Amino acid sequence: MARPKTDEIFRQRLERHHDELRWLYMELYDNDSMFAELCTNMYRFFKDRKSSLKTRDKNREKNPGWFRKNDMLGMMLYIDNFAGNLQGVKEKLSYLEDCNVNYIHLMPFLDSPKEHSDGGYAVADFRKVRPDLGTMEDLAELADVCHEKDLNVCMDFVMNHTSEEHDWAVRAKAGDGEYMSRYFFYDNNEIPMQYEKTVPQVFPTTAPGNFTYLPEIGHYVMTTFYPYQWDLNYKNPRVFNEMMYNFLFFANQGMDIIRIDAVPYIWKELGTSCRNLSRVHTIVRMMRMIGEIVCPSVLLLGEVVMEPEKVVPYFGTIEKPECHMLYNVTTMATTWHTVATRDVRLLKQQMDIVNGLPGEYTFLNYLRCHDDIGWGLDYPFLTQWEMLEVPHKRFLNDYFMGKMPGSVSRGELYNDDPVTQDARFCGTTASMCGVESAEAENDKDKCKAAVELDIMLHAYMLSQSGIPMLYSGDEIGQLNDYSYKEDPDKAPDSRYVHRGKFRWDLAKKRTGKQSVQGQIFNSLNRLEQIRRHEHVFDADAKVYTYDVHNDAILCITRQMADERFFGIYNFADQPQTAWMQEDDSYIDLLTGKAVALRDISVPGHGFYWLKRK
Ligand code: GLC
Repeated sequence: MARPKTDEIFRQRLERHHDELRWLYMELYDNDSMFAELCTNMYRFFKDRKSSLKTRDKNREKNPGWFRKNDMLGMMLYIDNFAGNLQGVKEKLSYLEDCNVNYIHLMPFLDSPKEHSDGGYAVADFRKVRPDLGTMEDLAELADVCHEKDLNVCMDFVMNHTSEEHDWAVRAKAGDGEYMSRYFFYDNNEIPMQYEKTVPQVFPTTAPGNFTYLPEIGHYVMTTFYPYQWDLNYKNPRVFNEMMYNFLFFANQGMDIIRIDAVPYIWKELGTSCRNLSRVHTIVRMMRMIGEIVCPSVLLLGEVVMEPEKVVPYFGTIEKPECHMLYNVTTMATTWHTVATRDVRLLKQQMDIVNGLPGEYTFLNYLRCHDDIGWGLDYPFLTQWEMLEVPHKRFLNDYFMGKMPGSVSRGELYNDDPVTQDARFCGTTASMCGVESAEAENDKDKCKAAVELDIMLHAYMLSQSGIPMLYSGDEIGQLNDYSYKEDPDKAPDSRYVHRGKFRWDLAKKRTGKQSVQGQIFNSLNRLEQIRRHEHVFDADAKVYTYDVHNDAILCITRQMADERFFGIYNFADQPQTAWMQEDDSYIDLLTGKAVALRDISVPGHGFYWLKRK
């Protein structure tokens, strides 16, 4: 059979989605000519897509579950912290390969005003790379080199807002109505006040309120995040179309994964919380179809930092999918709750919820990322043990600040809100596990214990269902970096405490057996190799928790065909027994030794990875 001609491929893909796409577009915008413009531009981006990317599209279309593999391992990194600029990243790819990483998330790199950047999440120009990091050509070239090495590249697509210095915002500020209509402008505070009644605050202390007054034109503009991040108005089809062209532009630079930043916020309605409204799903569904028509090799990763009931709808349905992947955020926060309480009951229940979801749903698992940890836990569940929301959050923050007896963690609070008494937490994995305090006290035993906890948490993360994502620096146990306080642009935002420069001087020590870096790096490497080669870590494995009748121990089972695995993790700092009686013989995947699963003693903060023989 003759291969379909290129245009024919586009036509077939468009035909597959056209009716639904048009239906949703008309429902939102009722605008034929803007829809026609969208289709014309989709075709233009398709035509412009280089042949290597079209080959990627073709291969991945044949194997849509390509990313659900047990060798998928991500790492998120800041280009400047890690390697200075994009060229630098290219030169450091072999280090990433040593880390077994095949998916890199390049943190925001688009042009953004230095003093008002929110870590790059305030984009001034969607078609320009921040000059100190390189150019768009450097990005495309890096993507090419990554693809040759089987590395996938992910970037942030900040679609909820632009910087106040974006061309549209500048024109809006000059009073151009056409551009004002791309944002939410009000000439008095009546409607803003109405919104404030129902819309919660994202940054209550660093950026209170959801509107900013612009004295130069006597208007209020909606700014859900920082005052310099203006919310885009997706009721305007021009905004939707242009942002879709930006998305396709990045796909054509070779991006494999598009992280849709702050996606629950993109649609606003008066009288609502302006979060997770049904139109958000219409937009994400349209984006998924547009991607499948022009660049089907590209994945959508949704950033929904909310409780599981709110997160899961962003997968869409099996027939009408939305995001390919979502962050497993509640599990992450619950993990740290478990570290502080040494009580796995909530974590077990949280994992049971996630494990009970359809296998097609792919979560990104992580211990730390560039953001703070918000204590979004299942408080109704905790209330049965009298752990109430406000005092429990205070306990967790005190614990991780190192203020509680027995706590070795170090870090800082973020958005400590005196009204709601809500504060979030910032710190690196190693500092939260106690490496920082142990080194400060020069206490070898404490350091050993901290490193063990750090490794145990990674082992646990690597055995969850989904794709693991490392935070750059964690692989060598990098500590908090307090130097951000000397930079006036960063000082007010404590998230920079865990956004320090990558310590290449310390990374060199990773080959040593005794160094903190070597112990963590080599243990992670071993675990990642096992994960990559053992069939039982396959993405289609059934994953359950297993009751070992000890609230300090979490036990995860993975079952793939007739292979069976137990991951046993002790969250207490003292030895504990996993009360279990299994007849089959097992082997310890780390030592190769035979183990009988009969009431196993697990060292404090220790773990076992066991597989049935
Ligand atoms: C996302 C980012 C966060 C940023 C916010 C606003 O939540 O992860 O770092 O501040 O969006 O763009």
